[in-house]
Parts: sequence; structure tokens; C-alpha cells
Amino acid sequence: MSMSSNTSRAVQFVESFGGPEALDLREVPVPDVGPGQIRVRVIAAGLNPMDWFMTSDADTAARFGLSLPCGFGNDYAGVVDEVGDGVGEFNVGDRVFGGAFSRSVADYVVVDAPGHIGKGGDAHHTPDGLADRIAGALAIAGCTAAAALAIVNPGPSDTLLIGGAGGGVGVFAVQLARLAGARVIGTGSAASADALRALGAEPVTYGESLADRLRELAPDGITAAMDLHSTDTIAVARELGVPDARMATIAAAVDGVTPANGANGANAAPGAVEKIARLAAEGRLRVPIAATFPVNEVRAAVELQAGRHVHGKVVIDLA
Ligand SMILES: NC(=O)c1ccc[n+]([C@@H]2O[C@H](COP(=O)([O-])OP(=O)(O)OC[C@H]3O[C@@H](n4cnc5c(N)ncnc54)[C@H](OP(=O)(O)O)[C@@H]3O)[C@@H](O)[C@H]2O)c1
Repeated sequence: MSMSSNTSRAVQFVESFGGPEALDLREVPVPDVGPGQIRVRVIAAGLNPMDWFMTSDADTAARFGLSLPCGFGNDYAGVVDEVGDGVGEFNVGDRVFGGAFSRSVADYVVVDAPGHIGKGGDAHHTPDGLADRIAGALAIAGCTAAAALAIVNPGPSDTLLIGGAGGGVGVFAVQLARLAGARVIGTGSAASADALRALGAEPVTYGESLADRLRELAPDGITAAMDLHSTDTIAVARELGVPDARMATIAAAVDGVTPANGANGANAAPGAVEKIARLAAEGRLRVPIAATFPVNEVRAAVELQAGRHVHGKVVIDLA
């Protein structure tokens, strides 16, 4: 796409919401910066299932307050390109990462500074040594994992069961729980066993007779659980005697179990995503990137992630 200096690329739904086929790469005006805001030249934008779930049809989009034309994606990393009046914390040229609600897969995003992941978006300084591709994949999954950890509070005396441990949220949850000293058993398909081991989890296959496999693997019992895929892990953990107070869900609600919310950091500790970024920059936490796609291949990126068997994060390259 040829561009003049005041236009830029943005992935959008224009005619209708829908699946990946409804996404288009458009030429749009470079967004203006208002007071208290910064504009970021995006370099990498990580995808989350939430991105395509929210925009899958008009009714769902309306529930999330979205209307056409509508951008796509939340997580981003890039460089501050313009600073609005009254912003003290960021300067042009600063490397930043964060969330920009349903608009991050674009050359430019405008976000509030500081703020929270929501309509206004948010921004954090990218630590030195952390690649944009990694920083651009932290916001939702990192925050959600931190929120689930804050609910379950695993420690050295715990054997924590994580259902769906190899996915975007799982890779953070497993490693954060290991850093907290817990033994971690992670569910996955047989094909995910090596990836789970590399994160520090003991792999176990999900599905029928999971409770039996867990009794064998952890004869002293499971003490805490997170369900990052559905509700199956919670059901098995209950069967094994894990109390509801030591469990969290993120993908589907279970009566009596606290849901973790990564979208607004509601139950994550303040500063959780910055801490994750520091751990990643120090090499103490790995962020596996399942695949990176150029922005004109965003539909393929969504299709890959929607298959629900990726290990780690799917990232769009906008450099
Ligand atoms: N509440 C919130 O704030 C919040 C925030 C973020 C995400 N979420 C939701 O949480 C879920 C996970 O997000 P994510 O980013 O981690 O997704 P993801 O990256 O798409 O998760 C993929 C993982 O799911 C695993 N999986 C597939 N089928 C499974 C099954 N039957 N049982 C257990 N695991 C299975 C896969 O493992 P195998 O390849 O080994 O099968 C794969 O590693 C999504 O539904 C998402 O919408 C909620």
C-alpha cells in the first residue's frame, strides 16, 4: 500500500463484524493526539482470543461497546511518536508497550498516559533488552496470568494444576507459579508435553480420566488449580478435593470460583505487567512466540490462533 505522510495502515472491520475474512488492511489518517495522550508508532501487536471473540458478530461487538468501522487487537509495543499536553511520564522516542482496546493492529495507536487497558488504553516503559515482539505480547495474557496468580496465591507448599497451560496465558501462569516456588502440573495435548516441560511444568494430557493421571502424578494431592481453557480442570480439581478458594477461571465461569480478569487488571497486583516485562528482560521468564505474521497476513494469524492449539503468543509485525 502506498502511503502519504499523514496516512497509515490499520486493520479494521468496515462493512461488518465477523471472522478473519471480514478483516481488512486499510489506509487511514494518522490519529491525532489529545491532552493527556501519547501516540505510538506500533512495531509489534500480539493477538489474544479476546480480539476475535469480541468482534465475531455485531451483537457481541455491541456488548463490548464496539461499532463500525472498528479496529482490531489490543496488545502493542512501539515507540512514542507524539506527546499530548500534560503528559510528563513519556517523551518522543520512548519505547513503550501496553494495551489499546480493539485498535492495536495499526501503524499508530493513541492511548491515555497513564491509564488502564480499556477504552483509553495504557502504556508502560519497555525495559532495555526486551524485544518489541515480546513486549507487544504481554498486556492481556500477562495481566490475566497475574490476576489468576493473585487469586490462587501459589507458593512452595503447593502443587498447582493449570488447565490449558501451554497457551498464551498459560506460558505466563506456569512460569510465575514456578517463580513463586510451586510445583506445577500443566494440562495439554500429548504434542504439547515438551513445550510444557520447557516452561517448568510437568505435562499431563487433558481429557477422560485426568483425575486418575493426576492421582498417580501427585499422590500427596493437588492443592490449587487454574482453568485457562474451559471448566474441565475445575471439575477435576474439585473431585480431587481442591477448595474453591484455591481456584481461578479465566475462560468460563464456575459458580463459587473467582474469575480472573486480565482486561482491566481488576484482580492483578498493581504493577504486575511491568514486573512481567522486567522478568522477561532479565531472561527469568520466557515468552514463546508461536508465530509472527506481517500485517497484510493478519487473517492467517487469526486463523492460526483460533485453532486453539498454539504454544505461546501470535504476533503481528508492523515495523
Ligand atoms: N478473563 C480474561 O480476562 C481473559 C483474558 C485472556 C484470555 N481469556 C480467555 O482464556 C482462554 C485462554 O486464553 P489464551 O490466550 O491462553 O488462549 P490460547 O493461546 O488460544 O490457548 C491455546 C491453548 O489451549 C490449549 N487447549 C486446547 N484445547 C484444550 C482442552 N480441551 N483442554 C485444555 N487445554 C486446551 C492448547 O493446548 P494443546 O495445544 O496442548 O491442546 C493451547 O496451548 C481463552 O478462552 C480466552 O478468551 C480470558
